[in-house]
Amino acid sequence: MNAQRIEHAMTDKGYVPLYATGTVPQPWANYTASDHAVWRTLFERQRALLVGRACETFLQAQDAMGMGAEAIPRFDDLSEQLRRVTGWELVGVEGLLPELDFFQHLSARRFPVTWWIRRPEQIDYIAEPDLFHDLFGHVPLLLNPVFADYMQAYGAGGVRAHGLGSEALANLTRLYWYTVEFGLIREHGELRIYGAGILSSAGESHHCLESSAPNRIGFDLSRLMRTRYRIDSYQKTYFVIDDFEQLFNATQQDFAPIYQVLQQADAVPAGDVLDSDLVLQRGSGEGWISDGDV
Ligand SMILES: [Fe+2]
Repeated sequence: MNAQRIEHAMTDKGYVPLYATGTVPQPWANYTASDHAVWRTLFERQRALLVGRACETFLQAQDAMGMGAEAIPRFDDLSEQLRRVTGWELVGVEGLLPELDFFQHLSARRFPVTWWIRRPEQIDYIAEPDLFHDLFGHVPLLLNPVFADYMQAYGAGGVRAHGLGSEALANLTRLYWYTVEFGLIREHGELRIYGAGILSSAGESHHCLESSAPNRIGFDLSRLMRTRYRIDSYQKTYFVIDDFEQLFNATQQDFAPIYQVLQQADAVPAGDVLDSDLVLQRGSGEGWISDGDV
């Protein structure tokens, strides 16, 4: 693989390289016993933790796809199933892509998945999104028709925002952050996880539901787009949707007028609660670091 790193991008774990390469076939035959063992360890641990914490849609989709602990799944197998149900497919990549490339993939119903998995000594911490985060965390919900449509609409919105400039992009990135990566959903009257950043993190799976520190606030599109976030710690605020329809419906409008309004408004610090918020739980703020919001 001749991966070419072109710049860096911010993620929940700090700055990581961006890759200029296009898509790459998954080198499945080259995975070592150690690679499969890392997948197995992470899968078993996280799956056990997520029963009763992740939304049922996610757990059922993982089962329906036959995603199990035994071995690293093959992208081709998963793509075949996704194509049949929601028209999505997976494409292998070296790592994070430049924004426009990423948006273009999503808008064409292609989800980029990092082909490599972390090393055994990185089980509990890795800076870059790897196969486990992308595949375990993101891919199952692409089997859900409404969420799948949301992801495509997000990609199309990203392509448009890219043409509008960096402020519009920052607004849109926050939407992804607080939904696709760190979103919570109400299910049977309880909070459940659907964000991949949480689903692939043992610590945050506990924190987002059980800690009294973070705020839990009802979903509001322009509020999310104004809200700064944390890349070096658990989130100070989680936004809660009622269902995936709410998420998809919010994308059925032109974001350009919203970006214009938001340009006049200050961004909201990650831990602030506004008078206009639908507050489900106000966080105690315990353990928060006062600066460093992105
Ligand atoms: Fe992600």
